[in-house]
Formats: sequence, structure tokens, C-alpha cells
Amino acid sequence: MFGYFLTYFTYLVILAPVQNLSCTQNETYYDLPRFWTNTGFCPAGEIGSENLRATLLSDEVQMNLIYIAALPTNAFTHVRIHWLLKLIKFVQYTPSGVPIYDFTSLDTFLMNLNDIGLYPVIEFMTDLDGILFNNLDSADFLWQDFSYQVAGHYLNLLGPHNLRKWRFETWNEPDIPNYNRLNFTAEGFIKYVLALRRGLKAVGRNQSEALNFSLRGPAGLFKSKRKHPLCWALLQSCDSQINQCPIDVLTFHRKGQGLATEVLKESAILLESIYRKYPNIKTIPIANDEADPIAGWSTPHDYYEDVRYAAQLVYIVFLHWHAKLHSAEFQYLESISHDNAFISYHPHEFSQRTLLAHFRMNKSEPLHSQFIQKPVYAALGMLSKLAPLAADIETISLGNSTDALWLLKTCSTDNNPLYLSWLLLPRENATNLGNFIFHHQLSFVPRPKEIFAYIIEILEQRKTDPAYIWRTQTGATPFPNAQERDAMRRVQASRLQASGILLSSELILNTTDLKLPWIALFRVCSSFSSVLKQPDQVIITRITIGEVFISWREATDTVHCLKTYEIWFQPEQTTEWRYISENWHLPYPSFQYAPPDSSVSGFYKIRGVDLFNGRSKFSTPVEYIETKK
Ligand SMILES: *[C@@H]1O[C@H](CO)[C@@H](O)[C@H](O)[C@H]1NC(C)=O
Ligand SMILES: *[C@@H]1O[C@H](CO)[C@@H](O)[C@H](O)[C@H]1NC(C)=O
Ligand SMILES: *[C@@H]1O[C@H](CO)[C@@H](O)[C@H](O)[C@H]1NC(C)=O
Ligand SMILES: *[C@@H]1O[C@H](CO)[C@@H](O)[C@H](O)[C@H]1NC(C)=O
Ligand SMILES: *[C@@H]1O[C@H](CO)[C@@H](O)[C@H](O)[C@H]1NC(C)=O
Ligand SMILES: *[C@@H]1O[C@H](CO)[C@@H](O)[C@H](O)[C@H]1NC(C)=O
Ligand SMILES: *[C@@H]1O[C@H](CO)[C@@H](O)[C@H](O)[C@H]1NC(C)=O
Ligand SMILES: *[C@@H]1O[C@H](CO)[C@@H](O)[C@H](O)[C@H]1NC(C)=O
Repeated sequence: MFGYFLTYFTYLVILAPVQNLSCTQNETYYDLPRFWTNTGFCPAGEIGSENLRATLLSDEVQMNLIYIAALPTNAFTHVRIHWLLKLIKFVQYTPSGVPIYDFTSLDTFLMNLNDIGLYPVIEFMTDLDGILFNNLDSADFLWQDFSYQVAGHYLNLLGPHNLRKWRFETWNEPDIPNYNRLNFTAEGFIKYVLALRRGLKAVGRNQSEALNFSLRGPAGLFKSKRKHPLCWALLQSCDSQINQCPIDVLTFHRKGQGLATEVLKESAILLESIYRKYPNIKTIPIANDEADPIAGWSTPHDYYEDVRYAAQLVYIVFLHWHAKLHSAEFQYLESISHDNAFISYHPHEFSQRTLLAHFRMNKSEPLHSQFIQKPVYAALGMLSKLAPLAADIETISLGNSTDALWLLKTCSTDNNPLYLSWLLLPRENATNLGNFIFHHQLSFVPRPKEIFAYIIEILEQRKTDPAYIWRTQTGATPFPNAQERDAMRRVQASRLQASGILLSSELILNTTDLKLPWIALFRVCSSFSSVLKQPDQVIITRITIGEVFISWREATDTVHCLKTYEIWFQPEQTTEWRYISENWHLPYPSFQYAPPDSSVSGFYKIRGVDLFNGRSKFSTPVEYIETKK
């Protein structure tokens, strides 16, 4: 049963150009690795196991994760969560002195995460329920055994096809006193990392087929060597003995001071300095675990509320893609992660570094949380629609304006029906584009009987901008009522700007009236694409009385031509099916249903609509029975 190989090493190769594609003119295209599909958070409150358990299993955290998972497949893959392993309890020692741990709480959390389709980044960040303190002499043994037990436990539970997608990482920012609760010394820290490495390796060796769990680290801030001795010492030890280096991916944290450009610049400065000191580690893959525009997730910024943060995240992705193609420091970039899976709190509902705005409905009975998707959430959905091959970022200058547009062109490989996906936005800080009409020639030639359809979807400041509704139409209320929530949700996804059969070989977008910033996604697909398959695994989650969140899985191999979803509802088996999502553009696999004056109990079924207005089959109907809690 363990006949799987880790595909880990396949994406570490340096990108090679892909030649002679029908969708390209004479530009070079490369395989586009989805290096941005990661998020993270730190649970709120005390770092005690009881509080952590309550927090991580709370309805807010679970709902937040359900939303994050309800974007198209591959919008988000990994969630990095500090202190997760503090959920593991020590039970007793075996007669031979090996600790026995109780994984029950962690199992509950990780099985939920697995069910909704997300993978964890496991940070080895715990005091092993206290047993380390009395056994400092056997720390080496305990860490090795612990990493062996953790990886082995979940390998047995979830199998190698899941586990090979998991990531294992060392302690988060071990040089920061607030994190370094074990008071690691440089020597102790290196021993700890080596011990984890040995434990993970032993799990892999235990399998009949090679299964290499890689270890990431040191998740460091890398300020001066004097201030941050642990992370620098690990790199030094790797440089002096590269074959003994316990880490497979060098992780670091670099943020900007508010701009995307700074994230890349700060990272480049750090990497140059690392490679100058330690040239032997140049070919270790790198990842910026916390590649955010500015430090401090909870410090409110007005740009976090709206399309500005959505655009910033896209810039960060674009800049890293360009750097991966062109700069020596970034050629081994493995991934970046956005630290934005936090849950916002009053009075900063929209303005913290989060994907969703959170409203704790303290005055409602029952008490519950309401989430509204911010434009940054929709932007990650747009990124998930990119095709597998991409050109370099193209800068389009605009006549007499000093501003410019940035364009990422992606397309399918030649052995598949044509799919183009282009993401276009004004460059960071653009203030005035003037009168501009974007024209772009398409080069491909249809085959006999082949037809192409297109779609343009847009995120636009003040238009697809729930925070704007909240501020201007609700007085920024902490408790938006049903109508106000409906008004916000109607503008939380990208807007359908245009769609239809492609009649000329040119894409045109008049950007004159668009409010800055905006993000446009153009997609073109062929009538030879596979037929849209029916949605699957419909899950209905209770939000409160009379309100549910409906989410489902897409058939990823057939969604290139997807335009929108339709949700149908039948209160009872004898009544008519009703189309309840009419007038909603639903490009992502979820829908929140809160009818003003009828029950949500009944049957739900979903189908997709493609760019040629073809409908998929309906999903299997799912029944929801409301209980009055
Ligand atoms: C696992 O690692 C070993 C050496 O560490 C290597 O020889 C082997 O090819 C790797 N296996 C896979 C599947 O990557
Ligand atoms: C191909 O490249 C050449 C030189 O780089 C350029 O002048 C020409 O316009 C390009 N052709 C197309 C169709 O883009
Ligand atoms: C390793 O293999 C042994 C014997 O098959 C088994 O008892 C043990 O549970 C395995 N360990 C892990 C971590 O999978
Ligand atoms: C680490 O050092 C702090 C301050 O010196 C001390 O309060 C704490 O008990 C130490 N922790 C451990 C695990 O030794
Ligand atoms: C963006 O604008 C800010 C403030 O106006 C300025 O300091 C910064 O240099 C600009 N950055 C870029 C990349 O243009
Ligand atoms: C560009 O020039 C035209 C004509 O001179 C003018 O009408 C327009 O406002 C200018 N646009 C910008 C962005 O300056
Ligand atoms: C709701 O109650 C919680 C817990 O008492 C509190 O922290 C939060 O600020 C309250 N929210 C609002 C909007 O008043
Ligand atoms: C672009 O939009 C502007 C503003 O709506 C309009 O004045 C202009 O005529 C449009 N241009 C074209 C070519 O349609």
C-alpha cells in the first residue's frame, strides 16, 4: 500500500523553457509551479494545551478553515500553524523508556483539516508536554523519537499519498524570545534539528518504498548574527558540512514596510548576505514562509480591507515569479506563504491581515461568527485559474502616463485543448492610467470545427469591495444584519465583465473607467475541452438558524471552461426545485444561503455552467436538516 514516491524533488529543477507552443508568439514559456498556495496563522490566546485545543477546535477557527478550503483546488494547499504539536499529550514511558503520547486532540484537528482538503505545515514546536525539562540529557533521543512518532502516526492514519504533501518544519523564529521557550543555545538548536532529521528519515526508511520526508527550517528572521545566533549557526554548520545539513528547504521570513516590492527586495538582500557568507548552501531550495507586505498581522491598515491588499498579494506572486526566472538568489525558490489565515477581531473586522472579515455576532441568538470574503480571498481564486505554463511578467506602458500595467500570460501545454489565462493589473502604486484600452493579439489558429470562448472577470476597488459597503452603507456596524451581510456578499467575488464566443483574435479591455486598483482575469478555452464534470462532495455547514454555507469539490481536470455555478434547492421531496443563486456570479465552489423568509432545511444540488453555456450534470442532492440548537 505504500507504493508512492515523494515527488518533492521534481519541482526543484531549474525552470527550462518550453518551446514552440501554439498559444505563444515568440515568447518563452516555463512550467509555472504553484509556489504561492500557502497560508498560516498563530492560534489566539494562551499557549497552553487546553486553550489551544479549545481555540483550534472552536467554531470560528473551523469555519475560517472551511472558507479557506472552499476556493478552487490549488488556491490554497498548506496551512502553517504555530504550536500545533502542543496538542500532543505525554501519557507515560514504556518499560524501555520510550514516551507514549496521546494524539487524540491533534488527530481531531488534523482529520478535519484533511477532510476539507488542506495540508498542514507541522512545526516541531512544543515542550513535549513538559517531559523535556526533566530530561535535558536525553533531549536528542526525545526529539528524534518525537519526530519519528509524529510522522509515523499520521503516515499510518492517512497514508503516504497524503503525507507526502505535508511539510515538516523546525521551530518558528527560534531566535525570538517569545518563541524560544526552551531557551535553545546554538549548539542545542543544531542538535535538535539533527535529531528531528534522523527521526523523519527513520520513518521513511521504515517503508517498503523510499519515502523521503524533507525537513524545512529554520524559519528565521535572520537579523544580525549577534541577535539571532541560532538560525545563523545552523546555516554555518550546513555550509561547513553540506552533506550533513539537516534541512532540505531553507525557510526564512522577510516582509516589506507596506509594499510588495519591498518583500522581494528585503529577501534579495538577505539571500545575498547568506550566500556571501555561506556559498555552499546556494543550491538548497528556499521558501519565504511569511512573505507579507508588512509585519504585525493584527496592526490595522486600511489597505488590508479592500482590493489594495488583493493587488499586493498578486504583485508579491508576480515579483517572485520574475525573480525566479531572472535572479540567481531566487532560482531555487520553492514557495512563499502568506501569513493571513488569522481571524480578525472587533473593531478591525476588515483591516487586519486576514482573508476574511470576521463578525462575532454577540447580540445574536445563538451566538455565532459571520465571515465575509475580502477581495484578497477572491484574488487567490483568480491565481488558482492560471494555466500550467507561464511567460515572464510583461510590463505594458501606457502612452503618456508614467504608470504601467503588469501582465502574466499563462497557457496550457500543447497536448491539451487550448486554455489561456491572463492576469492583468496596474503596477504597484499606479495612480493614473489615463484613457487606456488594452489590446492584445491572440496568435493561435483554431483547428477545423474548433471554437473558442472567453471570459473577463474583474476585481475593482469600491465595486467588488465589501468593506466599502460596510463603511458607506452600514456605518461600519459590528453586527451587520441579514440584509447588510447579503449586500456585502454580493460584491465579495470578482465581477463578470464579459463572456461569450471569441469572434476576433484580439482581447480588448477598456480600462478607462475602472477604479484603481483593479485586477482582471481573461480566460479563453476551446470547444474541444473536456465536458464540465458534475460537482462532488457537497458539504452544508450550519452558520446559524436559517443560514448555511454550501461548499463542494470541483472536478479539477474539467474546470478550465467554468463560468459559474448554479445552486438549486428543494424544501421537500414533493416540491419543485428552485434556482436559488440566480443573479450571483459564483466562480468559486461555495455559496452562502440565508433566505429572508423561508427555511434552509431541504435538498441542495449544484451544477456548473461553462463558457459555451453548457451545463454539467447536477451533483448528487444533499439533504440539510436544521436543528434548533
Ligand atoms: C530519497 O533519498 C535518498 C538519499 O537520501 C535518495 O537516494 C533517493 O533517491 C530519494 N528518493 C526519492 C523518491 O526521492
Ligand atoms: C518576435 O520577436 C521579435 C524580436 O524579439 C520582435 O521584433 C517581434 O515583434 C516578435 N514577434 C511577435 C509576433 O511577437
Ligand atoms: C515501523 O515498522 C514497524 C514494523 O513494521 C512498525 O511496528 C512501526 O509502527 C513502524 N513505525 C512507523 C513510524 O511507522
Ligand atoms: C528560559 O529562561 C527563562 C528566563 O531566563 C526562564 O524563566 C525559563 O524558565 C527558562 N525556560 C526553560 C525551559 O528553561
Ligand atoms: C509607492 O509609493 C510610496 C508612497 O507614495 C513611495 O514611497 C514608494 O517609493 C512607491 N513605490 C513604488 C514601488 O513605486
Ligand atoms: C495623455 O495625453 C492626452 C492628450 O494629450 C491627454 O488627453 C491625456 O489626459 C493624457 N493622459 C495622461 C494620463 O496624462
Ligand atoms: C463579542 O464578545 C467577545 C467576547 O466577550 C469580545 O471579545 C468582542 O469584542 C465582542 N465583539 C463585539 C463586536 O462587541
Ligand atoms: C472607453 O471608456 C471611456 C469611458 O467610458 C469612453 O469614453 C471611451 O469611448 C471608451 N473607448 C472605447 C474605444 O470604447
